Amino acid sequence: MRAEPNVTVPAGAELIDGAAIARQLRADVAEEVAALAERGVVPGLTVVLVGDDPASAVYVRSKERACLEAGMRGQTIRLPASTPQAELLAYVDQLNADPAVHGILVQMPLPKHIDADLVIHRIRSDKDVDGFHPVNVGKLLIGATDGFAPCTPAGVQELLVRSGVQTRGAECVIVGRSNIVGKPMAALMVQSGPGADATVTVCHSRTRDLAAHVRRADILIAAVGRAEMITGDMLKPGAVVIDVGMNRVEDGSQPRGYRLTGDVHFASASRVASKITPVPGGVGPMTIAMLLRNTLRAAQRTVVA
Ligand SMILES: NC(=O)c1ccc[n+]([C@@H]2O[C@H](COP(=O)([O-])OP(=O)(O)OC[C@H]3O[C@@H](n4cnc5c(N)ncnc54)[C@H](OP(=O)(O)O)[C@@H]3O)[C@@H](O)[C@H]2O)c1
Repeated sequence: MRAEPNVTVPAGAELIDGAAIARQLRADVAEEVAALAERGVVPGLTVVLVGDDPASAVYVRSKERACLEAGMRGQTIRLPASTPQAELLAYVDQLNADPAVHGILVQMPLPKHIDADLVIHRIRSDKDVDGFHPVNVGKLLIGATDGFAPCTPAGVQELLVRSGVQTRGAECVIVGRSNIVGKPMAALMVQSGPGADATVTVCHSRTRDLAAHVRRADILIAAVGRAEMITGDMLKPGAVVIDVGMNRVEDGSQPRGYRLTGDVHFASASRVASKITPVPGGVGPMTIAMLLRNTLRAAQRTVVA
């Protein structure tokens, strides 16, 4: 009798559909917004955009639209790039004092003559729905639940939870240590509780032997900003791969002359991983959904139970 060849055919990873999960989350938020509105409070987000960076203009428009779709108040204050820092701070003070504004977001990057940290610190921490104010950063680190977690890492955690990924005791390797993604991601995953309880490693540009760390990951979160740098051969078979990266790669075959790609080489990684997020359509849609949720929470906290 001939022995069956011992060949393992890779099954292919299951797609984590961030767009669908974000839609569900936005529907959940809209329901809670309607309930709050019945109590006389309509959550309101004000975005401040300084200058005319085209990518920022696109982000801001989609944030405003998402707010309105969820039944919230969404408003954008557009200021010229030459706006003096003092004038921007005065706008922030006004919004801080306005009871109809529950969430304030100053779109980054700001023009060079403005100190972004000063602006972030000026936003009232209970309206800082971006989660960048030091008070919220501190709350995140100590595991307090009355602050705001930054939207992208919070969205990643939500994706893991809603996709049924077991995080407890998992080796979670994060590539990237920015204040926006990598560091808060680590702070979320290391807490005790659902969607967390992981053993966390944070890698960066000074990490020795990145591939060895990546290879240990049950959950890999890539937030580097380098197109397709994580390849399938670096992964542990069955790993869950979350690709935060959003990179433009020149591509003459595309109408715009470029295509969007993540930090993970999707074709090779999806042959090894058990679950993987696509780019676009993975983490991206979750960021706005979490912004809506943070704004809803800010409004809910103004209502005495
Ligand atoms: N989908 C979304 O909503 C969303 C939101 C935010 C960001 N993003 C995307 O996520 C990516 C990361 O964003 P970010 O703001 O965190 O970027 P960032 O501030 O540029 O940080 C990149 C991180 O990657 C590390 N890094 C760079 N080269 C590396 C290498 N060869 N090996 C290991 N680590 C390396 C850097 O290390 P050092 O600290 O040592 O320099 C840094 O910590 C970007 O593609 C961005 O567009 C997406």
